[in-house]
Amino acid sequence: MKNAIVTGAGSGIGRAIAHRLAREGYNVVVNDMRPEAAGEIAEEIGGKAIAVAGDVSLEADASRLAAACTEAFGACTHLVNNAGHVHQARFLNLDPADFDRMFAVHARGTYLCMRAVLPGMIVRKQGVIVNIASQLGQIGGVDLVHYSGAKAAIIGMTKALAREVSAEGVRVNAVAPGPINTPLVMALSDDWRNAKAAGLPLGRFGEPDEVAATVAFLCSPEASLFVGQTLGPNSGDVML
Ligand SMILES: NC(=O)c1ccc[n+]([C@@H]2O[C@H](COP(=O)([O-])OP(=O)(O)OC[C@H]3O[C@@H](n4cnc5c(N)ncnc54)[C@H](O)[C@@H]3O)[C@@H](O)[C@H]2O)c1
Repeated sequence: MKNAIVTGAGSGIGRAIAHRLAREGYNVVVNDMRPEAAGEIAEEIGGKAIAVAGDVSLEADASRLAAACTEAFGACTHLVNNAGHVHQARFLNLDPADFDRMFAVHARGTYLCMRAVLPGMIVRKQGVIVNIASQLGQIGGVDLVHYSGAKAAIIGMTKALAREVSAEGVRVNAVAPGPINTPLVMALSDDWRNAKAAGLPLGRFGEPDEVAATVAFLCSPEASLFVGQTLGPNSGDVML
């Protein structure tokens, strides 16, 4: 049985991941902090999905996700930490509250959700965790110290936990997308998007389904040798 939790699945990349995993036979817990969005996507997917609203930065909500999965389908076998938001500010204008919220959602949320599902995965000696970072966690983004730092934290946490638990049957990896056509990026100006696309080796932004394909691979047994890696579906923007 394959039981996946996808956080922030009410839109964009998370929605595409939830659909892709459902098509591959997973039962899916569709999480989002916007209850109506979680419900809508679970309904789109149909019988293999349930909606569980919650804010991943809250310990009780993260625990509830794992419990809801167990109750509906059985223990969580695959966790995709995707929930996130973007916010831009010059470093000296960055409000500490915005800095804290960025780390609360991305770093703490990823930590709490991994913490909620890991004990069961270790007992069963089987599990997969995929954390959605960003290429900006690798190269940094202008006016994005807090976002870049939080995404770099996700990459570091992924590597550290992978070292700790891979021998116990749990594979932990990260995905660091480049610019992807989602509501998050569509909020930026046409000029910015056109200039950015022109500078990409591939000449275009990615689509959510293309990131979902990378996640589906990492979730699959085909990725058995991938441990603590950060894969980059990024149109060639960053080459490491
Ligand atoms: N779109 C891109 O170009 C891009 C590039 C690199 C990384 N990413 C990352 O991919 C992930 C998905 O981004 P997207 O582009 O699909 O954005 P999106 O705004 O379309 O979707 C993000 C979803 O996460 C939900 N969410 C936000 N905070 C949450 C929280 N605390 N708890 C639960 N749900 C929460 C939102 O309600 C929203 O539905 C994010 O982590 C983002 O940082 C996106």
